[in-house]
Amino acid sequence: MKIKNICCIGAGYVGGPTMTVIAKQCPNIKVTVVDINQDRIDAWNDNNLDNLPVFEPGLADIVKETRGKNLFFSTEVDTAIDEAELIFISVNTPTKTYGKGKGMAADLKFIELCARQIARVSKQDKIVVEKSTLPVRTASAIKSILDNTGNGVQFQILSNPEFLAEGTAVNDLLNPDRVLIGGDNSSEEGIVAIQSLVDVYANWVPADRILTTNVWSSELSKLTANAFLAQRVSSINAMSELCEKTGADVNEVSKAIGMDSRIGSKFLKASVGFGGSCFQKDILNLVYIAKSYGLNEVADYWEQVILINEHQKNRFSDKIVSTLYNTVSGKKITFLGWAFKKDTNDTRESAAIKVADNLLNEQANVVVYDPKVHLERVYSDLDYLKTRSVEENRELLSVESDPYRACEGTHAIAILTEWDEFKEYSWQKIYDSMNKPAFIFDGRGILDKNSLEEIGFTYYKIGLGK
Ligand code: NAD
Ligand code: UGA
Repeated sequence: MKIKNICCIGAGYVGGPTMTVIAKQCPNIKVTVVDINQDRIDAWNDNNLDNLPVFEPGLADIVKETRGKNLFFSTEVDTAIDEAELIFISVNTPTKTYGKGKGMAADLKFIELCARQIARVSKQDKIVVEKSTLPVRTASAIKSILDNTGNGVQFQILSNPEFLAEGTAVNDLLNPDRVLIGGDNSSEEGIVAIQSLVDVYANWVPADRILTTNVWSSELSKLTANAFLAQRVSSINAMSELCEKTGADVNEVSKAIGMDSRIGSKFLKASVGFGGSCFQKDILNLVYIAKSYGLNEVADYWEQVILINEHQKNRFSDKIVSTLYNTVSGKKITFLGWAFKKDTNDTRESAAIKVADNLLNEQANVVVYDPKVHLERVYSDLDYLKTRSVEENRELLSVESDPYRACEGTHAIAILTEWDEFKEYSWQKIYDSMNKPAFIFDGRGILDKNSLEEIGFTYYKIGLGK
């Protein structure tokens, strides 16, 4: 089937960039991204491209090029579903906060709502594509809802998980390592549906990078990929603690092991802990699925990835407190970075949140500077934890829009995000304005130890032993 109209439900970090790139690469397809969140849609339609709800290098230019031509953002969900031959579901699938599986399982209520809406609205056959990350076997639940509540039209369900990373989303989408499409490859209709989506991607992705599998392999591959990636970070972070005790340097260890082609050099950067909306959520989901099949050893194995990550965040804040003579009460501590990684304005599950929460428990005065994260976001991240009152959070923590001002009179600087601009600062100027002794806790290992020590800083780098 030749696809002329695509609808994507969910205009978030995945739906927005993914559909923008599809629109760019497929000028003959009309792409409509819909969301129930009016503010988000308004922001996607804002004439000032600085106000797009998602910051990604290169994204605004492509939105400018395609928006209003073959890319549309709208809250008219029914209309877009009705017009489309192919519908991506790209809504959020957070960890459940209630009931069975609370704190572990994926909450599928948004997915189910989408399926029911698609069933209600559709008057012609449709291909429904799971773009969201879902527990393995969700496609059968979606199919059951569609077939039992629909208007008698035929639905084909495909799984097409997204592997983009934030901060590099545009490049990841334009040059993906692979595109994965799972479908019912045992029926003629299933094969036609798979081919229709393959043809969309074939507009720019080389054929040998478009992988087709059965639905379950595709669903499970997404959880597996995130589990493996997060596991690498936890593995190197676990070694970073041992490096600090033994005089080894985790960067040298990473380099040494990464040159083994079986291990590979990517994703071996020790840090204050991984963040982002997905690693933790997806591993918890995997652990829950394994447990639900009685696979307790499998569940325990993957859970350890999360436990090490929690430990890494806690040990970073502990290190700050112990170095500052075991008390940070009333002391100003400056955070450079709040986003969960550089080149994104996303802060979900950022390590900075937990580290700040720990230091606020010790009554520190935390000052935050991040080039892309706004004040409201920082406060909402903290308030969400419900550790202390909204007023106390505002009393103890402030947000500065100028990095030098954020560092004035501070006792210690903690690097929480690896923004490139931090490397370019005048560290002498910062040192001169700080309380002495002046400490830096580099949770991302991005600054140069020798030059900072020459200036007079006491410098701690994650994973660097003495
Ligand atoms: P997000 O929260 O940024 O966006 C989801 C959007 O869906 C929201 O704007 C919300 O309003 C909308 N929505 C929810 N229910 C709706 C409904 N019934 N109708 C219309 N709109 C609805 O989430 P995200 O980061 O884009 O992630 C979406 C999915 O993609 C998740 O399953 C996630 O695991 C997966 N994923 C995310 C990333 C990433 O980098 N963020 C990468 C790969 C996969
Ligand atoms: C991750 C995956 O890389 C994507 O393939 C996947 O699509 C996505 O999750 C998802 O499903 O949401 P993302 O979370 O956007 O992408 O960013 P990553 O680059 O993976 O970084 C995740 C976290 O790990 C960040 O906090 C980052 O700083 C940290 N990290 C990453 C390290 O500490 N060390 C590393 O070597 C790599």
